[in-house]
Amino acid sequence: MSTPKDYDVIIIGAGAAGLMCAATAAYRSRRVLLLDHAKRAGRKILISGGGRCNFTNQQVAPQNFVCSNPHFVKSALARYPSQNFIELVERHGIEYHEREHGQLFCNDSAKEIVEMLLTECEWAGVQVRLREEIQSVRQIDEQGFELNLVSGKLSCDSLVIATGGLSMPKLGATPFGYKLAEQFGLKVLDTCAGLVPFTWHADQKQRFEELSGIAVDANVKAQHGPAFKEALLFTHRGLSGPAALQASSYWTPGETIEIDLLPDSDVAQLLINAREASPKQSLKRALSQLLPKRLVEALFDEQLSSKSLNQLEHAELDAIEAQLKHWQLLLNGTEGYRTAEVTMGGVDTDELSSKTMESKKAPGLYFVGEVMDVSGWLGGFNFQWAWASGVACGLDC
Ligand code: FDA
Repeated sequence: MSTPKDYDVIIIGAGAAGLMCAATAAYRSRRVLLLDHAKRAGRKILISGGGRCNFTNQQVAPQNFVCSNPHFVKSALARYPSQNFIELVERHGIEYHEREHGQLFCNDSAKEIVEMLLTECEWAGVQVRLREEIQSVRQIDEQGFELNLVSGKLSCDSLVIATGGLSMPKLGATPFGYKLAEQFGLKVLDTCAGLVPFTWHADQKQRFEELSGIAVDANVKAQHGPAFKEALLFTHRGLSGPAALQASSYWTPGETIEIDLLPDSDVAQLLINAREASPKQSLKRALSQLLPKRLVEALFDEQLSSKSLNQLEHAELDAIEAQLKHWQLLLNGTEGYRTAEVTMGGVDTDELSSKTMESKKAPGLYFVGEVMDVSGWLGGFNFQWAWASGVACGLDC
């Protein structure tokens, strides 16, 4: 016989997944308490998408997520597709627009998404308590937990961990969820920063730093990931822009990334055509019609780039093509959690039910959102995972 508890459900973390889960559970008439140590709910939502929150994507598929078990995300995403969240946004009268690759953003402000979620929590009867420090958690019977807060003790039947990942520590990210998972014997996979800019080695910095501010459309590919054709941005520190951020989620230190700087062009053919049209034209001049001049100068030494097209040997043409279409770069690292949008790794999904997000080892203990080993691509997929996993759990906890 379990003893009566203060709440049916306590959720730790009032971010995207926690808010969604709380409203869903409370609409089932569960007595729900949502706790957070921050002074505001949904802080990452507020700064997301440049303040306009890329809240979901029109085309969400399991392959848009990185997870050790690629099948894990299927059930929750199928039960709560992006259309359901779009309908919620529309019911609240929030205006939005679509950008490239199916990304949906608020017209006005990300604040509207946080207000919408807090309104849903209020309508459903969720109690929200902010600035709460949780000191410890213990199991008190076969399905029940006691939380030791600075402000006192609280008990619940179901405990949901929605404390997110480690990115942006300034916004209140903590390893709380990982530590709690380990306390209950769950495996936590190594974490690292994802959707994060790359940094140059010292010699690369010397060579490419002056390209800072240049953006080109490129294909960027880490060795074990798909190629992403999006904008690539050169910065003082390294490479950023959507194409680099996406590739970073598949990159491990010591591996090269491959860049195709002219993804829509057959470079060899272009150079042959240019040579036929004006044989005396220099390589630099010919390539500067395809790419920013400063980039061409940084990629090819003066001796080669000042050669006229009709002087180029076959081997040189092959090397030029390889440089432009298959540029192999061994980068120093990434900017880390300080600027990362997500955390790769986390609570091993093999430990959780893909239908409910409940721990298989500790009944009544659930994990939702980014704290688990699920990371989405750039483009609204991370929020879609937060909504979908939050709902899957909220319907069960
Ligand atoms: P989230 O991080 O949102 O929430 C965790 C909550 O737990 C926080 O409120 C935190 O205060 C709380 N918490 C942590 N430790 C605690 C503790 N010890 N005690 C109590 N509370 C604790 N995604 C996307 O789809 N579209 C986008 O436009 C963007 N843009 C974007 C921009 C930037 C700058 C970042 C950093 C990230 C994004 N993302 C994004 C990613 C997205 O923000 C992220 O994946 C989700 O917010 C994850 O939701 P969660 O609820 O899991 O964690």
